[in-house]
Amino acid sequence: MADTLKTADSCVMVIFGATGDLTKRKLFPALYNLAKENFLPKNFAIVGVGRQEIETEEFRRNIIADLKEFVGDKQDEELLKWFEERTYYTGGDFDDDKKLFQDLKSLLDEVCATHSIPENFFFYMAIPPDLFANVAKKIVKNGFGREENGHWRRFIFEKPFGRDLESAKKLNSNLLAILKERQIYRIDHYLGKETVQNILVFRFGNSIFEPIWNRNYIDHVQITVAEKLGVESRGGYYDSAGALRDMIPNHIFQLVTLTAMEPPVSFEANSVRDEQAKILQAIQPFSPEDALHSAIRGQYGEGTIADKTVKAYRSEEKVPAASKTETFAAMKLSIDNWRWADVPFYVRTGKRMKARHSSIIIQFKKAPFMLFRDTPIERLTTNRIEIHIQPDEGITLHFGAKIPGPIVKMGAVDMDFNYVDHFGEQISTGYERLLFDCMIGDATLFQRADMVETSWSIVSPILDVWKAVPPRDFPNYDSGSWGPKEADALLEHDGRAWKNFVE
Ligand code: BG6
Repeated sequence: MADTLKTADSCVMVIFGATGDLTKRKLFPALYNLAKENFLPKNFAIVGVGRQEIETEEFRRNIIADLKEFVGDKQDEELLKWFEERTYYTGGDFDDDKKLFQDLKSLLDEVCATHSIPENFFFYMAIPPDLFANVAKKIVKNGFGREENGHWRRFIFEKPFGRDLESAKKLNSNLLAILKERQIYRIDHYLGKETVQNILVFRFGNSIFEPIWNRNYIDHVQITVAEKLGVESRGGYYDSAGALRDMIPNHIFQLVTLTAMEPPVSFEANSVRDEQAKILQAIQPFSPEDALHSAIRGQYGEGTIADKTVKAYRSEEKVPAASKTETFAAMKLSIDNWRWADVPFYVRTGKRMKARHSSIIIQFKKAPFMLFRDTPIERLTTNRIEIHIQPDEGITLHFGAKIPGPIVKMGAVDMDFNYVDHFGEQISTGYERLLFDCMIGDATLFQRADMVETSWSIVSPILDVWKAVPPRDFPNYDSGSWGPKEADALLEHDGRAWKNFVE
């Protein structure tokens, strides 16, 4: 993990896809937050590249207006001015080998000279994934990939990184043919979330959890990433992806690996990622039979969320009326190693669910009951640790306590740690840490090529079976519910149940 005392080198961030949503909603606000905390180098500039042919002046006006909107009350006029002075734009056709890249070269020369920046560049690909390889190739062909005279060149790629094993392999091999692995930063914004980073601190920075963090004490693990939102305006992308591709081999597998990994020998990027990779390798492959029974898909129908009727997925913008794309996916994973043998990891994610809630639940085994046989207690409370990722970040320990009174009765109680109460409100987009890490050259929180490929290889059999056997019952869950009943049955079959949280 990054040594935050390290300072970022003077550099230029070049954003491809600069007029898009990600740039205005996440990247600029994240840069703003970094600058506010003095994490950006003094000699720094941003060059936006997009298809729209607009002038720098117009881009600056748009960016400042968006920043004002997204940073809310925290706006600082001086800082906005600082941003305005160091933001530039060049537009053109990404397919044109010459014009756009020559313009970019002249602009970068000018920017580096104006702001006394050595030629350290990081290119952020906020563009559709099918353009990644081509645009990167053109950047490199125009001489921006070479690291010479102590200057660095880094490339950040947004997710999705491929849409299956084959395409991810192809993308990796295309990129690795022109760049070194250490120049490639595959982003997964879940790793930018404080609570996700805290999993390692919680597990390895305390002595009381790790001794019980294994098959001897843990019954099972549940990971839920539930969203209340539907697909909003992203129907076009989403319908070709689906919940599994969109969330599982990336965000959810990050949560699985951080929860399950062995302690790394250091926080150096490859030590951490080696341990994560070992978990991915230990996840049991799904046979076609397992894929049918241990992986559940769903699609939302109409329903009610916050007292409002919301439409079915098939009625969303840019979604075909007979779409068979899943908006919910759940599965049971088995990690075949010494620590986790026979401890299932149940994971689920879905849109238009009852509550926005993401958490990791570590469910411990029951204590023996015999001592309580002659008491009014019928069942012992089971212990669990709940790591709440969003919306309220925190950790809860759930245990049983005696209810005061002459009769032995047991009640379930919670010990809660809440981030906001202890550390105050942190204004963050989740991208701050990741951008900073890229600037200091720390790839710990980024995906390595092998991790991406192993993740796809785990879910590939499910994608294959789902494609071969189209769903017949879609839509199969109401908006505002906890997903299809088959997802409940997946756990009920093992004598377990999902822990649902209400808001
Ligand atoms: C994105 C997915 O990667 O993550 C979206 O493409 C999803 O479909 C989003 O809504 C969830 O992110 P968060 O940070 O809101 O949990």
